[in-house]
Amino acid sequence: MGLWEVLITRKIPAAGMKLIQKECAVKLWAEDRPMPKERLLAMVAGVDGIVCLLSDPMGAEVIAAAGNRLKVIATMAVGYDNIDLAEASRRGIVVGNTPGVLTEATADLTLALILSLGRRIVEGDHLVRSGAWTGWAPTQLVGADFQGKTIGIVGLGRIGQAVARRAIGFGLKVIYHNRKRRPPAEEAAIPARFVSLEELLRESDFISLHCPLNKESYHLIGQAQIERMKPSAYLINVARGPVVDEPALVEALRANKIAGAALDVYEHEPRLSPGLAELPNVVLAPHLGSASMETRNKMAEMTAQNLLAGLRGELPPWCVNPQATQN
Ligand code: DGY
Repeated sequence: MGLWEVLITRKIPAAGMKLIQKECAVKLWAEDRPMPKERLLAMVAGVDGIVCLLSDPMGAEVIAAAGNRLKVIATMAVGYDNIDLAEASRRGIVVGNTPGVLTEATADLTLALILSLGRRIVEGDHLVRSGAWTGWAPTQLVGADFQGKTIGIVGLGRIGQAVARRAIGFGLKVIYHNRKRRPPAEEAAIPARFVSLEELLRESDFISLHCPLNKESYHLIGQAQIERMKPSAYLINVARGPVVDEPALVEALRANKIAGAALDVYEHEPRLSPGLAELPNVVLAPHLGSASMETRNKMAEMTAQNLLAGLRGELPPWCVNPQATQN
């Protein structure tokens, strides 16, 4: 029996579980599906720490249900839009995430989606498996070239930059839009050219989203933005589902207003907007951005380190709200 009681909302890789189990009494939601809200509210009561996933809503209600002993929330993700940071900080609860470690894996997945979409690999897979394939044909499943085309990256942070480096290897030119322009030396090193969102939408052949989800990025891409894209453009979202107005995207794809889309994240994950799954011009992945063995093990370790530091009253090594300690 450990010193602290913690809730883990889903089994995480052993590298992290072991570190936590050595020092804590663990309440674990052992089912292979997200914790229903009422179970979360019941199980969180009285814990000193929480390990959560990006799919667990950590709002004021859950934080209040935990009670006064709660010191730390450690999420096994880089994105923490599911956590009410203001409320956690107000109550002196530190929050830790897992930045950096999933950059390369997420960028790899982005390129995999861009290549699959542009070269119609998923459609081809279906054709071959269906038995309807009659052999090589000059006009069959012809897709897009990458060499000389333009990729527009929305959000040139760590992941956006790793995507840019890979895209350049495929001969793509990089333009980007960010809330804050990157320093000129960083732009030159990639190289990437800063443009307005308007210009990015107009000029890009591939538009890849890598911004965090917040009030400004909610539905950043909706009908009006899609209207500005080239009819031959592809949209890729590996950031967060609500950055895109998904029903508007389905409508646009149905009407062939753009050439296609590849999504790793969804507006109401894991539910899809009606009609999305029936479209031929989409590639749909089940939120696989960070899903490599090495990356997930490192994420689990960092999550455990954040949790244990917070429980000891120390600042978690990857703390997103150090202001919480000012209370
Ligand atoms: C994250 O960490 O935020 C990703 O979406 C999941 O790996």
